[in-house]
Amino acid sequence: MRVVSIVGARPQLVKLAPMAAALTAAGHEHLIVHTGQHYDADLSDVFFEGLGIPDPDIHLGVGSGTHGAQTGAVLTGLDPFLERTRPDWVLVYGDTNSTLAGAVSAVKLHLPVAHLEAGLRSFNRRMPEEHNRVLTDHAADLLLAPTEEAVRHLAAEGLAERTVLTGDVMVDVCLQVRDRVLAEGAPAVKGLPEGIDPNRPYLVSTLHRAENTDDPRRLAGLADALADLPMPVALLAHPRLLARADEHGVKLERGAVRVGRPLPYAQLVAAVAGSSGVVTDSGGLQKEAFLLERVCTTLRTETEWPETVEGDWNRLVPEPWELAAREWADTVLRPAPTGPRGTPYGDGHAAERVVAAMAEHAHRD
Ligand code: UD1
Repeated sequence: MRVVSIVGARPQLVKLAPMAAALTAAGHEHLIVHTGQHYDADLSDVFFEGLGIPDPDIHLGVGSGTHGAQTGAVLTGLDPFLERTRPDWVLVYGDTNSTLAGAVSAVKLHLPVAHLEAGLRSFNRRMPEEHNRVLTDHAADLLLAPTEEAVRHLAAEGLAERTVLTGDVMVDVCLQVRDRVLAEGAPAVKGLPEGIDPNRPYLVSTLHRAENTDDPRRLAGLADALADLPMPVALLAHPRLLARADEHGVKLERGAVRVGRPLPYAQLVAAVAGSSGVVTDSGGLQKEAFLLERVCTTLRTETEWPETVEGDWNRLVPEPWELAAREWADTVLRPAPTGPRGTPYGDGHAAERVVAAMAEHAHRD
């Protein structure tokens, strides 16, 4: 079986790592398209190096732009590659503009599409990621769902027949990297912003979603809330956050906050494992905090990973300025819950199940 993976943004590279390993281990041919949606080395190259992902077979170099321009540029670049390689499956990942473009290009060329991380929903139709998920799921032939909740969403949209529950491939990579990092022992935590001592309590924070960064008042309010926390905050800043903060005149580095660069995956896992908690609007980080048994506070109204909220491992606080300073601090610094957590994201062997599902459903029509 020949599979073409289409990736372009940081979280897709994390999911690509276990998929590339599992496809190769099972003896399948695997080609990688990097759309170039993320082009900063911190968001792209370090993941290929750090996670041992083979170099892309083609790099489309689309870069930044409006949603339409970015999606269109990926489509234009992909058509000739997919036409030439005619894979048994085009595999698209998650919910970015690269995901949607990959699905549309493949569908137009009558190539089968598999969607990894299918069925997630925030039900917030203002999020670009929600448009991408819904449109991709309805275009795809095989829906690889990470959770039972995702399976239910797909069934409710009439897509049950195309759905397979595989578990979440991010668990595969997160647990493998965690074990490797822990085996290396201290000092495992590297790369935190200057001014953060990894041997003293600290929080890890990221902020990049359009709904949090693009509105100057919201961004200023969130920056204030982080600055007011009574523990040092390592803010691992996505380029989008830095660009918007600069544009809106919002100062990020003040109070508790120290601003640093995004971390390579192994360093991120070590940083979260060594932290007192996480404050974020990232989907992946909510889950990584859960898997690494750190409490998470999510700066959003909803989450695609509601399993993290059950049992209080994750709390949604979209507007921290509505809480009194003490309540906000107590929320972020609450102790880790003690109840059973279960394994809602699977057992760390999701990538093998994804490969098996693709092999089973190849050429079915
Ligand atoms: C994208 C995904 C989002 C994912 C995130 C992970 C979409 C709609 N969004 O958001 O689902 O969670 O990636 O990081 O696809 N930029 C750089 N260098 C880069 C990449 C981006 O400077 O390497 C800046 C540019 O100013 C750009 C902005 O970040 O305009 C936004 O980048 P974009 O790829 O559109 O979306 P992300 O916010 O990264």
